[in-house]
Amino acid sequence: MMLNNMASRLRFWVCCQVVLVIVLASSCNCEVKSAIGDPGMKRDNLRVAIEAWNQCNEVHEEAPNMGSPREADCFDIQKSKSRTKLVHLVNEADNKLSIYDAKSLGQENLDVNTYAAWKELFLGYKCQVQDEPKPWNFWMIMLKSGNMDTTAAICPKNGKPSQPFPQESRFPCFGKGCMNMPRIYHDYTTLHSHRKHPKRSQLKGGFHGTWDLDADMSKAETRNDTSFFKVTWHKNLGKGSWKFHHNLKTSSKYPWLMLYLRSDATTGVSGGYHNETRGMSKIVPKSPNFKVKFTLDIKRGGGPSSQFYLMDMGSCWKNNGQPCDGDVTTDVTRYSEMIINPDTEAWCNPKKNLKLCPPYHTFANGTRVHRTDEARFPYDAYHVYCSPGNGKYLEEPFNYCDEYSNPQAQEILQILPHPVWGEYGYPTKKGEGWIGDPRTWELDVGRLSQSLYFYQDPGTKPVERHWPSIDLGTEIYVSSNQVAEWIVSDFDIIITDE
Ligand SMILES: *[C@@H]1O[C@H](CO)[C@@H](O)[C@H](O)[C@H]1NC(C)=O
Ligand SMILES: *[C@@H]1O[C@H](CO)[C@@H](O)[C@H](O)[C@H]1NC(C)=O
Ligand SMILES: *[C@@H]1O[C@H](CO)[C@@H](O)[C@H](O)[C@H]1NC(C)=O
Repeated sequence: MMLNNMASRLRFWVCCQVVLVIVLASSCNCEVKSAIGDPGMKRDNLRVAIEAWNQCNEVHEEAPNMGSPREADCFDIQKSKSRTKLVHLVNEADNKLSIYDAKSLGQENLDVNTYAAWKELFLGYKCQVQDEPKPWNFWMIMLKSGNMDTTAAICPKNGKPSQPFPQESRFPCFGKGCMNMPRIYHDYTTLHSHRKHPKRSQLKGGFHGTWDLDADMSKAETRNDTSFFKVTWHKNLGKGSWKFHHNLKTSSKYPWLMLYLRSDATTGVSGGYHNETRGMSKIVPKSPNFKVKFTLDIKRGGGPSSQFYLMDMGSCWKNNGQPCDGDVTTDVTRYSEMIINPDTEAWCNPKKNLKLCPPYHTFANGTRVHRTDEARFPYDAYHVYCSPGNGKYLEEPFNYCDEYSNPQAQEILQILPHPVWGEYGYPTKKGEGWIGDPRTWELDVGRLSQSLYFYQDPGTKPVERHWPSIDLGTEIYVSSNQVAEWIVSDFDIIITDE
């Protein structure tokens, strides 16, 4: 009797343990799945590259003696008994490769624009890290100047050849050559050893430069009315995250400048670019199943016209729902951005500017409201919406996006801090995460981007939204002598598929 009782208790106990183990195993999604090569920016062996774009994301002409505007800083650390050293994978000659080297490399068929795309693939190959499900290459620092010489017709209009037209105030240009590439200087990453405290040894490197071709580089950072950019990275050896410290300064000749840190796809086209690129996202995140995590510390905002993007995502699909294939006449770049500068106002407005509102808003619970529903539409959640220039069935009233600032047509949806985005971990009030309020964000970018309005031709199957570019940084829009400064660390893209 006793024994029997003991045996059944024991059986019961074992059973409980088994059930417990099963419950724990199924509820514990222990391994966080990252979409990127360097989750949380923790890897000592850094991979970072830089690119510069003109108004329509091309080169047009290289800056004198600077080579094609693609460079990289990639290294592996070698430890031996006596010392630790960095083995750089991209040398000075690689970084300086210019269109004038195209012939000797057997690439004489490439023009200056496609040569830059070729150079990016070359640098990507040198920096490549083997991984699952795919190899990956580097973080990408992106520079862009918005200057446009309308009289030179350098940029296509919605992907089609354009005609010259007189200069307009919306396109700054100081005259011939205003669309030049910047001068880019490179401080290769080095190890700064700490003799007494080896644990405090630091890795440091950076890129800096100016768009002013005649400026004294040693004074550009501080001199008034001189454009300037700098990105430095540093990390304690063996611990913590890289910190990417960004600086950007506009001038009256270069009043519209952009500086982003991007996690681009490792294959295929990426946001705003029509050629194959290289990057950090070994898995291209897909709505609604991903989150983006990072720490952002903004030191200086860049003035009232600085469109500081807490999150900027770029993708591409055709209006009929087909994926992009490099045909710039039908491919459409799709951008969505959360601007956290508290000076940025909602231009979308039912009385004054209905055309700057997306046709509808979808609440987190799935309820959809039309932009004419004044009682329920959250107008203050939207800065600007603009429609693709090749959209055939746009809802009136509409506002085309800038036809020239991409190699192809584009659609842009810019949002502002507002309670409707709180559900996704985004700021709900102006000023959150701004200067003096550094934060670690975990944004449900996947679910948010699934709910946003993007145009497709009526009756076409809604596309699966893939985001080959996930970026952070600022676009200082036409205002000179403005300075922005910020630090990014701990960046990760986490796949959340259930
Ligand atoms: C860039 O794209 C064009 C047009 O799709 C293509 O013809 C060219 O081969 C590509 N170049 C490179 C270097 O990928
Ligand atoms: C800086 O340069 C701009 C443009 O030339 C000028 O308007 C401004 O007064 C200058 N600021 C200072 C502090 O010198
Ligand atoms: C969804 O949320 C909106 C905004 O909070 C609310 O107005 C609406 O009634 C909700 N719909 C449902 C079905 O709960």
